[in-house]
Amino acid sequence: MLFLLITLLCYAAAAAPQSSHCRCRPHDDCWPSEQKWSKLNQTVQGNLVAVRPAASVCHGSNYDSNACNATTRLWTDSVWRSAQPGAVQNQMWEAWPEHHESCYLESPRNSKCGQGRISVYSVKVQTTSHIQQAVRFARANNIRLAIKNTGHDFLGRSTAPESLQILTHEMKNIKVVDNFTPKGAPHGKSEGHAVTMAAGVQLPELYLAVAEHNRTVVGGSSHTVGAAGGYIQGGGHSPFGAWNGLGSDNALEFEIVTAEGSVVVANSYQNSDLFWALRGGGGGTFGVVTSVTVRTHPEAPVIAYNVNITTSSGNPRFWDAFSAFHAALPAINDAGGSGYYFGVPILPFGQNTTVSAITSLLLFPQKTDVNEIIKLYEPLTRKLGQINGVKVEAAPIPLPSVNSTIFEVLLSGSDADSTGGVSSLLASRLYSKDLMMSEDGPERLAKAWKSISWSPYSTFIGHVVGGPAVAANKNIHSAVNPAWRKTVSHMLFSRSWEANATLTQQKAIIKNMTEVEIPILRSVEGEDQMGAYLNEANPYEPGFQKSFWGTNYPRLYKIKQKWDPKGLFISRKGVGSEDWDDAGMCKLKI
Ligand SMILES: Cc1cc2nc3c(=O)[nH]c(=O)nc-3n(C[C@H](O)[C@H](O)[C@H](O)COP(=O)(O)OP(=O)(O)OC[C@H]3O[C@@H](n4cnc5c(N)ncnc54)[C@H](O)[C@@H]3O)c2cc1C
Ligand SMILES: *[C@@H]1O[C@H](CO)[C@@H](O)[C@H](O)[C@H]1NC(C)=O
Ligand SMILES: *[C@@H]1O[C@H](CO)[C@@H](O)[C@H](O)[C@H]1NC(C)=O
Ligand SMILES: *[C@@H]1O[C@H](CO)[C@@H](O)[C@H](O)[C@H]1NC(C)=O
Ligand SMILES: *[C@@H]1O[C@H](CO)[C@@H](O)[C@H](O)[C@H]1NC(C)=O
Ligand SMILES: *[C@@H]1O[C@H](CO)[C@@H](O)[C@H](O)[C@H]1NC(C)=O
Ligand SMILES: *[C@@H]1O[C@H](CO)[C@@H](O)[C@H](O)[C@H]1NC(C)=O
Ligand SMILES: *[C@@H]1O[C@H](CO)[C@@H](O)[C@H](O)[C@H]1NC(C)=O
Ligand SMILES: *[C@@H]1O[C@H](CO)[C@@H](O)[C@H](O)[C@H]1NC(C)=O
Repeated sequence: MLFLLITLLCYAAAAAPQSSHCRCRPHDDCWPSEQKWSKLNQTVQGNLVAVRPAASVCHGSNYDSNACNATTRLWTDSVWRSAQPGAVQNQMWEAWPEHHESCYLESPRNSKCGQGRISVYSVKVQTTSHIQQAVRFARANNIRLAIKNTGHDFLGRSTAPESLQILTHEMKNIKVVDNFTPKGAPHGKSEGHAVTMAAGVQLPELYLAVAEHNRTVVGGSSHTVGAAGGYIQGGGHSPFGAWNGLGSDNALEFEIVTAEGSVVVANSYQNSDLFWALRGGGGGTFGVVTSVTVRTHPEAPVIAYNVNITTSSGNPRFWDAFSAFHAALPAINDAGGSGYYFGVPILPFGQNTTVSAITSLLLFPQKTDVNEIIKLYEPLTRKLGQINGVKVEAAPIPLPSVNSTIFEVLLSGSDADSTGGVSSLLASRLYSKDLMMSEDGPERLAKAWKSISWSPYSTFIGHVVGGPAVAANKNIHSAVNPAWRKTVSHMLFSRSWEANATLTQQKAIIKNMTEVEIPILRSVEGEDQMGAYLNEANPYEPGFQKSFWGTNYPRLYKIKQKWDPKGLFISRKGVGSEDWDDAGMCKLKI
C-alpha cells in the first residue's frame, strides 16, 4: 500500500506504447488516418468532433479573448460542464499530472494547454446507431474508449487519455407508461408504472417528467447528475431510499450496446447476468447503456425535519453530541426517515466566534402529522439536552409532495453542485445499523471522525440513504455491495487543491488520505465488514474490489470476461480494471 501512487506511475511508465497489449495512441502508426476518422464521421452523421480542453481558448496561439471570456464566466458552471466534450466536473480528471499535462484556466496565458485526460475525439451521439458505430470503430482500431455522460464521476471514470469519447449527454428521450412489460416476459406480464429514459437524461429532467404524471422516481439529489449513467449503474442512493430503495433496485430493464457493437436488452427474462451486473456493477464497464426503464411510485406528501446541533468550537462535547446523534439514527431511519446531515467541526460564525455544528435534514414521505415526527426525535433531543454546552434547534417543514421537496428544498438555493472546475478527492465509508445500535459503536465512530484533521469550513456529509426499503431489497437480483443492505449512513469528507498545486503537493494529499485517513474510517467496523460506495469513494481506494462490491466481485469479474473479454470498456477502479494500467492503455497480464 505504501507508495501506491508511485507504483501506478511505474506501471504507466514501463508500458511500451507499441507493444501489442497496448492500445493505439495518436503518435503510433496504427492510429487511424484522417480518412478513417472522416469515414467514422459519416457513419455518425457528422457528430464527430475533434476535442481540445475547454480552457484551450485561453492559452497560447489558440487564445481568443471573446471565447476565453465566455469560458471564464462558465468555468464553475456544472450544467455547462456536463454538455462539454472537453470538460468534466472535477478538474483533476481533466489533467494528466503524471505526464505534466493540464489546461487550467488559472494557468498563465502563455502556458501550454496540454490535452491531459481529455479525449482526442468525441462522438456526440444522438442515436443508438451512433453508439454502435463508435464502439465498432474503437474496437476495430484498438482505441481507448471513454464514456462521458455528465462527467461527474469522482474516480476519473469519465475521462481517459488519448481516447475516443462517447458523449451521451444529448440523448434526452423520456417515456412514462402505466403498464411496462419487459422484453421476453410472458404475454400479459406487467411490471406496472414505469419510465424509460435515454442515456443523457439528467435527474431534474426525469423528476419533472414523472411529476407530470403524478408519480415519483428514486433518484439522487443533484441538478446535473445523470439518471441512466454512472448513478444507477453504480447503485444509486436517494434521499427517499428508506421509502423505495436504491435507484438500481428499481431498474426493470437496460438496453445496451455491447463490446461486439450489438444492441442487447437485459432484464429478468433475458441476459439476466448482464442485468444483475448493470445494477450496481459500476458505469463504463459492461457496455454503453442507451436507455434504462425504472419503476415509478405514487406521489406523496412529505415532512422534512431539520435539526441543528451546535457547540462552541473545540468543545469536546461536540463529539459526544455526534455520538448521540448516530445512536439515534437507526430508530429514526426505521420510522421512515432518510436524507442528509452536514457536520462542520470548525465553523467561523459572526465576527469573533467559531462553532462546531451538525445540520440535519431528514425526510419522511407519506407523513402529514408533524407531532408524530417531533415525538420520534424526543429521545435524541432529551439526550442532547443532557450534554453540557450543546444547543439544539429543530423545525418540521411540511411539504405537499415529493416534487416540491426535491425542487423547493433539496435543489433550491444550493450551489453545492454548481461549483465545477475544482479538484477534490473524497474519502468515504458505509456504516451499519449494527454499529450504531451497539453499546460502544457510536462512540468509536465519533473517535475516528474526531481524529481526522479538520480545517475551518471543512465538512463531513452523512447520507442516511439506507434502511427500511434498501434493507428489505436484500434478495433483489443485483450486484450492489451487500453492505448496502446493512447501511444506515454513507459518510464522506473531501480534500481539495488549487490549480497551481504541484504534483508533489497533490501526491502528499492523496497519500495521506489513502494511507492514513481511509484506514481510520475503515477501522471503525473493520476492513472486511462493510465497504464504500463506489460512486462517492476515494479514487485510490486500496482493495477497491472488496470495498466496492464485497462478495459479489468474483461473479462480476466473470460476467465482465463474458461480455467484454478484450477489455474494450475499462473504467478506473472498475470491474476488471486491475488487469490494466491506471490509464487503461496497456494490459498488465497477458
Ligand atoms: C453534486 C453531486 C451529487 C450527487 N448526488 C448523488 C446522489 O444523490 N446519489 C448517488 O447515488 N450519487 C450521487 N452522486 C454521485 C454520482 O452518482 C456519480 O458521480 C456518478 O458517477 C455520476 O454519473 P454520470 O453518468 O452523471 O456521470 P459520468 O461521470 O459521466 O459517468 C460516470 C461513470 O458512468 C459511465 N457511464 C456514463 N454513462 C454511461 C452509459 N450510458 N453507459 C455506460 N456507462 C456510462 C462513465 O463512463 C463513468 O464511468 C452525486 C455526485 C455529485 C457530483
Ligand atoms: C464531422 O462532420 C461535420 C459535418 O460535416 C463537421 O462539421 C465536423 O467538423 C466533422 N468532424 C471532424 C472531426 O472532422
Ligand atoms: C475580456 O475580459 C477582460 C477582463 O475582464 C476585458 O478587459 C476584455 O475587454 C474582455 N474581452 C472581450 C472581447 O470581451
Ligand atoms: C414540480 O416542481 C417544479 C418546481 O417547483 C414545478 O415547476 C413543477 O410544476 C412541479 N410539477 C408538478 C407536476 O407539480
Ligand atoms: C396524486 O397521487 C396521490 C397519491 O396516489 C393522490 O393522493 C392524489 O390525489 C393524486 N393527485 C392528482 C392530482 O391526481
Ligand atoms: C471581537 O473581539 C474584539 C477584541 O476582543 C472586540 O473588540 C470586539 O468588540 C468583538 N466583536 C464582537 C462582535 O463581539
Ligand atoms: C439550522 O441552520 C440552518 C443553517 O444555518 C438555518 O438555515 C436553519 O434555519 C436552522 N434551523 C433551525 C431549526 O434553526
Ligand atoms: C494525515 O491525516 C491525519 C488525519 O486527518 C492528520 O492528522 C495528519 O496531520 C495528516 N498528515 C499529513 C502529513 O498531512
Ligand atoms: C496558488 O494560488 C493561490 C490563489 O489561488 C495562492 O494563494 C497561492 O499562493 C498559490 N500557490 C502557489 C504555490 O503559487
